[in-house]
Amino acid sequence: MGLLDGKVVFVTGAARGQGRAHALASAREGADVVVSDICADIDTVPYGLGKKEELDETVRLVEGLGRKAVGAVADVRSQQSLDDAVTRGIAEFGKIDAVIANAGILSADGVWTMSEQMWQDMIDVNLTGVWRTAKAVMPHMIERRAGSIVLTSSSNADDPDGLIAHYSTAKAGVVGLMKSIALEVAPYGIRCNAMKPGFINSAMTSWQGMLDLYAGHEGGTLEHMRQAGYYFNALPMPMQEPDAAARVALFLNSELASNVTGQHFFVDAGHSVLPRTNMQAVIPPAEG
Ligand SMILES: NC(=O)c1ccc[n+]([C@@H]2O[C@H](COP(=O)([O-])OP(=O)(O)OC[C@H]3O[C@@H](n4cnc5c(N)ncnc54)[C@H](O)[C@@H]3O)[C@@H](O)[C@H]2O)c1
Repeated sequence: MGLLDGKVVFVTGAARGQGRAHALASAREGADVVVSDICADIDTVPYGLGKKEELDETVRLVEGLGRKAVGAVADVRSQQSLDDAVTRGIAEFGKIDAVIANAGILSADGVWTMSEQMWQDMIDVNLTGVWRTAKAVMPHMIERRAGSIVLTSSSNADDPDGLIAHYSTAKAGVVGLMKSIALEVAPYGIRCNAMKPGFINSAMTSWQGMLDLYAGHEGGTLEHMRQAGYYFNALPMPMQEPDAAARVALFLNSELASNVTGQHFFVDAGHSVLPRTNMQAVIPPAEG
C-alpha cells in the first residue's frame, strides 16, 4: 500500500531537480501525476531552465514506475497555461488531489544595482507563479471538498544571504500566501502548507557561477559544492539531494498529515538552528 494510492498530484517545474523528485516520490507511493515546466529560458536567469526533453524524461520515469503521467509545457507566469495543464490533468484522470507549486528561478545582484526586470521576473515566477498555481486548482478542490496544496518557499525566506533580496522577498511572500490560502480553504477541508528547503543539489545551485562562489575562485567544481554543504548544514552531510524535499512534500500530501495545515517546514539539514556569528565583523578602532 502506498501513501498516495489512487491520488493525482500536479507538480510545476517538474522537468528536473526537486520537481522531478516530487513526481517520482508521488508515483512510487501510488499517485498518477500531471507534470509541467516552462521548457524555455528566462533572460534574467543566468543558467538554463528545464527542457522539453527533460520533462518528457520525467514522464517516462513515472511510467517506468507503473503510474500514469500527463506532461504539459506551462509557464507559471501565465494563468492560462496553468489552467490548461489542470484541465488536461482532470480530463485524463478525473481529478487532482494535490499540487506542489515548485517551479522557481534564481538570479543574483545587489539591492541597489539590480535591474527592474530581474526583480519583476523573480516575483512573477517565485511568488505570483505560486499564487497562480494554487489558483488553477482551487476551484476544483473546493468543488470536491478535498485537496492538499504544498508551496515551495526556501530557508532564504528567513535567511537572506547576499545579492538575492528579490529571491528572499518572494520566498518570504510564499509563507504569507500559504497562511492566507490555508485559512481561506480550511472550511472546504483543503490543507495548505509550505516547505523551506535549505541547500539542495540541482541545476539552480550547480551552474558554474555558483560553483565558483563555493570555491571562492574561478574553476569551482562539484567537490567545492559538496564541501560548501558541510558548512551550510548542521547535520554531517554535504548539500542535500532533491529527494529530501520530495519526502517532506509526500508526508504533507498524505493522510499522515491530515490534521496539518498553515505550517511551514524547514528541510535544511539543521541549517536554521546554527548559531549566527558575524564572521566579517567590522570592528571600529578604539577611541583615544
Ligand atoms: N536548490 C536549492 O538549494 C533550493 C533551496 C530552497 C528552495 N529551492 C526552491 O525549490 C524549487 C525547485 O528548485 P530546484 O532546486 O529543483 O531547481 P531547478 O532549477 O532544477 O528546477 C526548477 C524548475 O522550475 C522550472 N521553472 C522555472 N521557471 C518556470 C516558469 N516560469 N514556469 C514553469 N516552470 C519554471 C525550471 O525550468 C526547472 O525545471 C524552486 O522553487 C527553488 O526556488 C531550491
